[in-house]
Amino acid sequence: MGYLRIAIDGPAGAGKSTVAKEVARRLGILYVDTGAMYRGVAWLSVEYRVQVADEEGLLQLLSAHKLTFARGQSGSFEVSADGVVITHLLRSVEVSERVSELSAHPRVREILTERQRQLSHCESVVMDGRDIGTVVMPDADYKFFLTADLAERARRRHAELEAKGFRGSLAQLRETIAARDRRDSNRSVAPLVKARDAIEIDSTGKTVAEVCDEILRVLGRD
Ligand code: DC
Repeated sequence: MGYLRIAIDGPAGAGKSTVAKEVARRLGILYVDTGAMYRGVAWLSVEYRVQVADEEGLLQLLSAHKLTFARGQSGSFEVSADGVVITHLLRSVEVSERVSELSAHPRVREILTERQRQLSHCESVVMDGRDIGTVVMPDADYKFFLTADLAERARRRHAELEAKGFRGSLAQLRETIAARDRRDSNRSVAPLVKARDAIEIDSTGKTVAEVCDEILRVLGRD
């Protein structure tokens, strides 16, 4: 039997990673957080002071340093740089501010897209991102497009950041998320767009469990 491949796309803060992680846990398969992969490159660019506009510099960083992606504890997806786990550093404001511009570079995308496809060829996956159903796994078994109101997405991200000890105003975060959505949706390569055959789920006002139940119902695994 082939591998089960589930794609979950959507804008920042729609709850993709929480939902994708939980769906993967319930199905007992690998969760792949592709946003964390782009964030891993952004982290390298902060660490080694490479401008995000400098695609050549980013490509050099990627060949000079080993980014690895693996299954972490309790279903998490772990990113390491040169053998050191950096997952917990990937949500910082510095990384978040850089990642969208960086992810618009076609050759950086090519490299990460290839790594994502490799992961999906080795085992069953739930993969979340912006272009999974359209570019990375256009032939996925199931595709979902998760959305939520901007206000709710900002509130969720704010709570998530506060829980991790980061500070910042809700209004400013809302602006940052809106700007990131615009950039992610308007870039020329692999923009954030709903695949024609994706099922849209609006998670506004729904709990994680409710959204997961909805997905598992579609999969016939409820
Ligand atoms: O889901 P996230 O917030 O961790 O994503 C971080 C950034 O990476 C986001 O601005 C868009 C980009 N991204 C992308 O372009 N393609 C993906 N498959 C995943 C993320």
